[in-house]
Amino acid sequence: MTKLHNAQKALNKAKSIAVLTGAGISQESGIPTFRAKEGLWRNYHPEELATPQAYKQNPHLVWEWYKMRFDIINKAKPNQAHKLLKQLENQTQLTIVTQNVDGLHTKANSSSVLELHGNLTQSRCENCHTLSPLQPNFDIPPKCKHCNTRARPNVVWFGESLDQNILSNAINAFTNADLALIIGTSAVVEPAASLARLAKQQGTYLIEINPNKTPLSNLTNLSLQTTASQGLSSLLNPHSNAAVEKTT
Ligand code: OAD
Repeated sequence: MTKLHNAQKALNKAKSIAVLTGAGISQESGIPTFRAKEGLWRNYHPEELATPQAYKQNPHLVWEWYKMRFDIINKAKPNQAHKLLKQLENQTQLTIVTQNVDGLHTKANSSSVLELHGNLTQSRCENCHTLSPLQPNFDIPPKCKHCNTRARPNVVWFGESLDQNILSNAINAFTNADLALIIGTSAVVEPAASLARLAKQQGTYLIEINPNKTPLSNLTNLSLQTTASQGLSSLLNPHSNAAVEKTT
């Protein structure tokens, strides 16, 4: 029996599945990843843009960058990988913990989604914290509809704490899962990457889908070195023609 067959069997048996997703799952929806050569950080230094200090110094520049990303996200549609995770949710208890701020898991109708790094389709009032959906062609900086104060992107910046409720629900999901899927993340940003290590410590079956190796690859029971949609297709629809380029 191959590693892929074992993984398919483990997936069929699993009563509770935790999924960690990163920018790679949305790559096939046309959203650039962060750390690839053509990634979002290439022309920008994250420390110049994605920090509270940068926002304080130059809110207009920071908003321009997020508006450029919002324009891409707003037009993007869930791809096959997002849809297959929704299909899996129909079969078993599944929690998606995502580092993505694009809202595509929710657009794919997944119901149990924990957004660790916030959501770029919304702004958050700097005074009363009201969340408002961003509209196409919004003015920079957007203002709160209630108190007319400047609003910031509803994302977590470097140096800020994650929402503690979301994080503890994510930890619970990975602690209690009997199988974890790690999809499209370079696994270098904490605490997200440690969720997989936590699951491993519990003896949880780990499957990674990523065309490239990551610091987590050696911990996994199966590392499918392919795209998110191909990897999920071959795991969930064993009779599909999806090619798995390489397994380790
Ligand atoms: P990265 O850009 O660091 O990593 C994307 C991963 O996706 C890489 O490991 C790629 O090999 C993989 N990948 C590329 N195309 C893929 C595909 N079609 N299918 C599957 N995988 C593919 O993005 P993240 O790991 O998500 O944080 O980055 C984590 C965090 O760093 C982000 O949430 C963001 C960033 O700074 C904040 O903004 C707080």
